[in-house]
Amino acid sequence: MKKVILGIETSCDETGAAVVLYDNGKVKLLSNALSSSASIQAKYGGVIPEKAAREQLKSIIPVIKEALSQSQIKTDELSAIAVTYGPGLIGSLLVGVETAKTLSFVWDKPLIPINHLLAHFYANWIGDGITIPQFPSLGLLVSGGHTDIVLFKNQHQYNYLGGTRDDASGECFDKCARLLNLDYPGGPNLSKLATNGDPSRFAFPRPMINSNNFEFSFSGLKTAVANLVLSQKPDKLFKDSVFKADLAASIEEAICDILVEKTVKAVKRFKIDQIMIAGGVAANLRLRKKLKENPFLTHAKLFIPPISLCTDNAVTTATAAIFNDNPINPLKLEANPELTL
Ligand code: KG4
Ligand code: ZN
Repeated sequence: MKKVILGIETSCDETGAAVVLYDNGKVKLLSNALSSSASIQAKYGGVIPEKAAREQLKSIIPVIKEALSQSQIKTDELSAIAVTYGPGLIGSLLVGVETAKTLSFVWDKPLIPINHLLAHFYANWIGDGITIPQFPSLGLLVSGGHTDIVLFKNQHQYNYLGGTRDDASGECFDKCARLLNLDYPGGPNLSKLATNGDPSRFAFPRPMINSNNFEFSFSGLKTAVANLVLSQKPDKLFKDSVFKADLAASIEEAICDILVEKTVKAVKRFKIDQIMIAGGVAANLRLRKKLKENPFLTHAKLFIPPISLCTDNAVTTATAAIFNDNPINPLKLEANPELTL
């Protein structure tokens, strides 16, 4: 069956709209429009929810128009509108949800609500000539707000194995980056700095790495980094570029070690041979390399999204809707900032 879906995503500081076509069992990306308030947020070192929502109010209609015009799809050709309804920042979610509800009503198109966490995994379904994940499959979600391990039985049924007790892995990247005086968003900046660093110079703790469960904890690692930074002379961070690169590499190594170890534990426990990773931190090159090269994972098929689709975008929202085609009465949809997997 052929479907054309317009996706709308506004869970955090991005405003995304995208059109995807599903034909002959394949997902084709027709357009991907994205506007980010990251440069505005950078001044404050993190996302200010009120500012994010105000920027999204300004950009949502131009972004949707851009997605439609790039795709060369007319509104009457759309099969449905998909929208992220949670989790995320409430002000931001409301912009996307209320816009989608209005468009669904005015254009008389079905409205499909999408859980943003689930949507991240659908980045693994997009691309020319790719093999798509089969089931059962292990899912590792590593984003700014979440770090979760899930065992998918099929597209619609999954067991939640565990998640973080405190900070998410992306949050740990961002908070450590801030301690190193790096600009927001910290993850990619810390990772860039780490490229030439020595990952073994600082032996940071890897909390819960050996715990007999699938839970994570990153706040102790962040505290250890804060203590080390505070124990140094203030200008060390500004002048000693080797120190800074080694510090970044050691932080990145510790975060990645924890993520890889828990993945290995789940693969062994559930005898799984398909692994999907997803979320902003899935763009991290060290994590990708460590997963690919881990001797306990070589038998498994590893699905890693294209870097451009790891962070928030509406392509994954639209793609998730192809496979989770459960429309809702537009008048009944409410944003849910606390939605979980
Ligand atoms: O999935 P995402 O765009 O937003 C959420 O749903 O949270 O993830 C954003 C997170 C941020 O914490 C960002 O620093 C992190 O992903 N991130 C990275 C990299 N690119 C993005 N972390 C480490 N290395 C990267 N290359
Ligand atoms: Zn996200």
